[in-house]
Amino acid sequence: MSGASNLLDPALAERLLSAAREAASHAYAPYSNFRVGAALLFDDGHVVSGCNVENVSYGLTSCAERNALFRAISERGPAHRIAAIAVTNLNNAASPPCGACRQVMSEFVTPDAVILFPSDAGVEIRPFAELLPFSFHLWAK
Ligand code: THU
Repeated sequence: MSGASNLLDPALAERLLSAAREAASHAYAPYSNFRVGAALLFDDGHVVSGCNVENVSYGLTSCAERNALFRAISERGPAHRIAAIAVTNLNNAASPPCGACRQVMSEFVTPDAVILFPSDAGVEIRPFAELLPFSFHLWAK
């Protein structure tokens, strides 16, 4: 792994990546053949995963990260905060989360949340805040 690997316990990182891989195996991606999985670790230890679901219209495709988040909120409500996010794909490709998913996740992360994603250099581990400085919000926190 590259990046600041001290940001997340390696066993926990592996557990999250494995949940993300398992989710990716459920992806519906007949148009891109790019199968993505995401796993969210909440501050109470709960893990929720999701995969990408494509649509023939293309534009209605839904990313793995947002599907995981919407699933988590649907199952347990919006009160829990995300401490760590793992993203992976079954294509052996770099796949940092898209900008739309970063913005959506930013509303539910803890201030020191970390994110793991495949980069050209291996699994990158970064503070989430580094991925989305100046995220949109309506009022000062
Ligand atoms: N995709 C994700 O699931 N997450 C991202 O952050 C970026 C892209 C999906 C959408 C589409 O099904 C496939 O990857 C190719 O873009």
